Amino acid sequence: MKNNTVITDNTDRTTAEYLRSIDTEGALIVTDANVERLCLPRIACLRDIPRVTITPGEEHKTLASAEQIWEALERVQARRNSLLINVGGGLITDLGGFAASCYKRGIRFLNISTTLLADVDASSGGKTGVNFGGLKNQIGVFSWPEATIIGTDMLDTLPQAEVLSGYGEMLKTGYIADASLVESLEAVAVAGVTVERLRSLIGRCTEIKRSVVEADPKESGLRKILNFGHTAGHAFESLLIKRGTPLPHGICVAYGMMTALILSHIRLGLPSEILSRHARLLRATMPAIAFTCDDYPALLGFMHSDKKNDDTSVRFTLLRNIADPVTAQSIDDEEIRTSLDITRDYLGI
Ligand code: GLY
Repeated sequence: MKNNTVITDNTDRTTAEYLRSIDTEGALIVTDANVERLCLPRIACLRDIPRVTITPGEEHKTLASAEQIWEALERVQARRNSLLINVGGGLITDLGGFAASCYKRGIRFLNISTTLLADVDASSGGKTGVNFGGLKNQIGVFSWPEATIIGTDMLDTLPQAEVLSGYGEMLKTGYIADASLVESLEAVAVAGVTVERLRSLIGRCTEIKRSVVEADPKESGLRKILNFGHTAGHAFESLLIKRGTPLPHGICVAYGMMTALILSHIRLGLPSEILSRHARLLRATMPAIAFTCDDYPALLGFMHSDKKNDDTSVRFTLLRNIADPVTAQSIDDEEIRTSLDITRDYLGI
């Protein structure tokens, strides 16, 4: 695996330097319409490279969009050594990385990350893929970009909900690996979650992600710690999509971490003050979500259909303490229902 991640506050200059060092004949940019409007005009060095623009939205993270990229690669007569340049958030880096990895059995790709969520998680680590059969990232491959450029000067283009989404994944990173990062992020919650306050913490998050992925690139064990909060988080995300009131991924993960922290307390004795601290933080920073016990069958259904689980058990990553994660904890439906009850108590919903 390659591990070439650069954090820059001048995406144009860093990208230009990178492109000078390689052959860009037959290169193609993959982006979405929002990034094309808000970010690409600020990355002047990409101006003359042909591009394919995907319609924004999770519903377009499909094989049909990958096909759109492959058709564009044919049009530019891409060769085996051509470069696909993915400019955008996690959807674009996942989709473009997947398309590049299949085209002619694999061409090189560069990720230029423009969202906080992609900066701290999705744009590095080698997971690529598309949604299929109603399931997230069901088709995909592990495949590493030539390099990831994290353009923090692009973050001022983000709506607040996307900043909060990245903040949720940053918190996850702190919980699994670094108590002082959690404290810094709690201080940000008190002052108000802004890009300016988070910028200096991005490097620590990418460092933690890199060390986990280096130790277990294909998620045979340790890497599962990166899924902390995601089992319940994905279920909340899917429920909200089904209701037609979606919220960004990292916000749902922040709520999923409440449920995972409760299970951690019940199963592994995680100190209860961490639960209260997280509930306070959610109330102070995140848009409210609401669910009742009538939603439990749907939530449990989503958890069981997650590709990490089966019909009989749901596996959670839990914490003995901050920075002391434990993977693959099988939890039965009764315990999950109890943890959802307690989640609602903590959040007053
Ligand atoms: N987003 C979790 C991982 O990269 O493993």
